Amino acid sequence: MDKNLKYTFDKNNEMIIDGCNALNLAKKYGTPVYILSETILRNRCQLFSDILKELYPNSIVSYASKAFCCKAIYNLIKEYGFSCDVVSGGEIYTAVKAKFDNNKIFFHGNNKTLSEIKLALKNKIYNFIVDNYDELETLEDLVKKDKKLENKLNIIVRINPGVEAHTHEYVQTSKTDSKFGINLESGEAEKFIVRVCQNNKLNFMGIHYHIGSQIFDTKPYGLAAKIVMEFIAMLKKKHNIDVKIFNAGGGFGVWYTNKDPNLKDEDYKKFIKATVNEIKNGVSKNNLIEPTLVIEPGRTLVCEAGFTLYTVGNIKEIKGVRKYVSIDGGMYENPRFALYQSAYTAVKCKSTETKQEKVTIVGKCCESGDCIIKDTKMEKLNKGDVIAVLSTGAYHYSMASNYNRNPVPPVIMVNNGKSRVIVKGQTYEDLIKYDI
Ligand SMILES: Cc1ncc(COP(=O)(O)O)c(C=O)c1O
Repeated sequence: MDKNLKYTFDKNNEMIIDGCNALNLAKKYGTPVYILSETILRNRCQLFSDILKELYPNSIVSYASKAFCCKAIYNLIKEYGFSCDVVSGGEIYTAVKAKFDNNKIFFHGNNKTLSEIKLALKNKIYNFIVDNYDELETLEDLVKKDKKLENKLNIIVRINPGVEAHTHEYVQTSKTDSKFGINLESGEAEKFIVRVCQNNKLNFMGIHYHIGSQIFDTKPYGLAAKIVMEFIAMLKKKHNIDVKIFNAGGGFGVWYTNKDPNLKDEDYKKFIKATVNEIKNGVSKNNLIEPTLVIEPGRTLVCEAGFTLYTVGNIKEIKGVRKYVSIDGGMYENPRFALYQSAYTAVKCKSTETKQEKVTIVGKCCESGDCIIKDTKMEKLNKGDVIAVLSTGAYHYSMASNYNRNPVPPVIMVNNGKSRVIVKGQTYEDLIKYDI
């Protein structure tokens, strides 16, 4: 399969995803259904692995589980030697059940509950990305009370470098209004790290920051890394503190529609190079130890590997206003339009005509905001057609709900003409399982 081609059409004008006919997949597994191309996914894993090996071998790819979490994905990323970050008891439990190496799990989150922290410790997960003072107090308390935990907890402090990026824009701000992390500009981050280092029962390992999502520009990566390296140099000079881990988060942009740049391998390399250059400069200028670079791609690894297949249902045209095409899924399996007005591309899985028309694709939930794509131009649709919405591998299955008591669809992995279920679809019986 061509690395840049996400799907093709066969001689019957039927869509082929990773060697599998989309109409056959719809027939075999029903719709809606999440499809994940293993080839695209593996290409992305290999790409990030290769980029880091070339630019900065002292590095770790830590997959951001929140993008798409299930046992099969952990098993796949294990093959590339990746680490992962988890943000909840559920993600910890899944990683543990997939026998993910506990030393390679980083525990993130702004409100890790005590029971989640205990679950992590029970499973020997000791890498904590600490977000705030309350969390630090909890950990300090735990090591004080439990001698077995002394010198076991590795602390990485999440800071706000004051660079916020989102899609095509970024801002540099000293006043960081975010629920995540400790402010750098105000001096809070310095005080926080000094406090961690003064506790000889905690291991201070390094710093984490994440500047946003869907970033297409290299500049904010370079700028954030420069600011953080200056901070690291100050920590060394003023407090003799060494930073061993430099975790620069994720956020690399992906393609959803033709308004997004279709980034090539070289472009992803540029993002990482922007960070790497600043680390190298900072290290040599200030005579620092070379930190291990951690990056946390989520969306970039899984998003473009994902396709959601739907069957077209009722169509309603309001003359002179809009044509609504209802599909058999909706915001319960893709809440991203409802949450962020995210844009998508849909393709008819059997191309039968060249005529295009403007339609709005909506879900079946009882919400006016239950929309998948507003005002998109695509091949004329009829009831019963199967369509594929592209780039749905990240933050779709992982954000699914049972709104209107709709069962979450299955996830099917396809690879070179073969398909297999990696997450079963829920049944109606599953939906009432917890009702008393
Ligand atoms: C701390 C952190 N790291 C990594 C990610 C992954 O970002 P993305 O999926 O955009 O690569 C996120 C996403 O929200 C995040 O909050």
